[in-house]
Amino acid sequence: MTLLVTGGAGFIGSNFVHHWLAEHDEPLVNLDKLTYAGNLGNLQALAQDKRHVFVQGDIGDTALVSQLLQHYQPRAVLHFAAESHVDRSIHGPLDFIQTNVVGTGHLLESVRAYWGALAADPQHRFRFLHVSTDEVYGSLSPDAVAFTETHPYEPNSPYAASKASSDHLVRAWHHTYGLPVLTTNCSNNYGPFHFPEKLIPLVIHHALAGKPLPVYGDGMQVRDWLYVQDHCRAIERVLQAGTPGETYNIGGWNEKPNIEVVRTVCHLLDELQPRGDGQSYAEQITFVKDRAGHDRRYAIDARKINDTLGWRPVETFETGLRKTVQWYLNHADWVSSVTSGAYRQWVDLQYGG
Ligand code: NAD
Ligand code: TYD
Repeated sequence: MTLLVTGGAGFIGSNFVHHWLAEHDEPLVNLDKLTYAGNLGNLQALAQDKRHVFVQGDIGDTALVSQLLQHYQPRAVLHFAAESHVDRSIHGPLDFIQTNVVGTGHLLESVRAYWGALAADPQHRFRFLHVSTDEVYGSLSPDAVAFTETHPYEPNSPYAASKASSDHLVRAWHHTYGLPVLTTNCSNNYGPFHFPEKLIPLVIHHALAGKPLPVYGDGMQVRDWLYVQDHCRAIERVLQAGTPGETYNIGGWNEKPNIEVVRTVCHLLDELQPRGDGQSYAEQITFVKDRAGHDRRYAIDARKINDTLGWRPVETFETGLRKTVQWYLNHADWVSSVTSGAYRQWVDLQYGG
């Protein structure tokens, strides 16, 4: 038995690959295009592990994907690959439509052809698990109840709209063709291998480099943070016991305003690697121009996955964030390898140098 994972060299995908191979002997084929966000360094510890087969390629390359499906005969496809950064989607939305919408459409067609030709038993057991986001639901007012699986879709950013489109495609392939799909909509993740364009790793990286810590607008936008390992465990559980055609919201019951997240990171750094001048890293916090169309609040109601599949997060924000900050302090070489040329161009474009 084998799994086909897409986007397994990115943040969540690589954490999932490590998690899976630590817990199971079932091999994984990892298809990743290696965009700026994909990094083989995330998988370095598996270089000698024969259970992990890495293939560089695009989910939209139907010839390649069909060949991989035929050759490895996976029992499931776990679809992580995407363009994932909201700010980049504001600067260049078409890449998001290409990968997240068109790419997912091609992938679904390759998988449908493979699945349709399987014998009855493997066909019955096959799963296509689509990894999506809470951002498809749009923004909540401060006192609104958290997103359930039946919350209307109201995506606001090009990223969110492209993910919402992909969710709809996945849903339609189930409804029309009977493809046994599972969709997960998760809140903001944090943890090891998180690319330092996203808030938490960017703040750690900039703090240690003595740079300003850019907080958009008033810093009171709320996100619901989940440690990435808990997300991986949820995906594993949905794959194991989820009902085809169902969607599962995944979240940490952990809403925090951005400014509080940034201050907590600063305090952890003050403790674990104090600044030479005795000042707090919080001195570096700088309020900058807000993101266009910035969603005010996300919050996930994770009762369905809790009640039906028995999943709950293991980490609290305090334990997960401490592990994360410590991981970045221990992996300065990883950070410097991913913050080279192309990364600097992005920081200049987004933060004006
Ligand atoms: P990421 O940007 O870190 O990684 C994406 C990976 O996909 C990279 O390795 C990249 O090389 C690969 N990729 C991109 N385009 C590809 C293509 N056309 N073909 C093959 N590979 C391609 O993203 P992430 O944060 O790990 O997110 C993974 C998935 O989880 C995404 O679908 C994202 O929408 C979803 N998600 C992310 C979060 C979060 O907080 N990061 C939360 C909920 C859901
Ligand atoms: P991000 O990590 O980009 O995730 P998402 O947009 O998918 O939620 O951003 C998390 C929050 O942090 C979001 O409200 C935007 C904010 N943010 C900043 O305030 N400053 C920054 O430099 C970045 C990258 C994000």
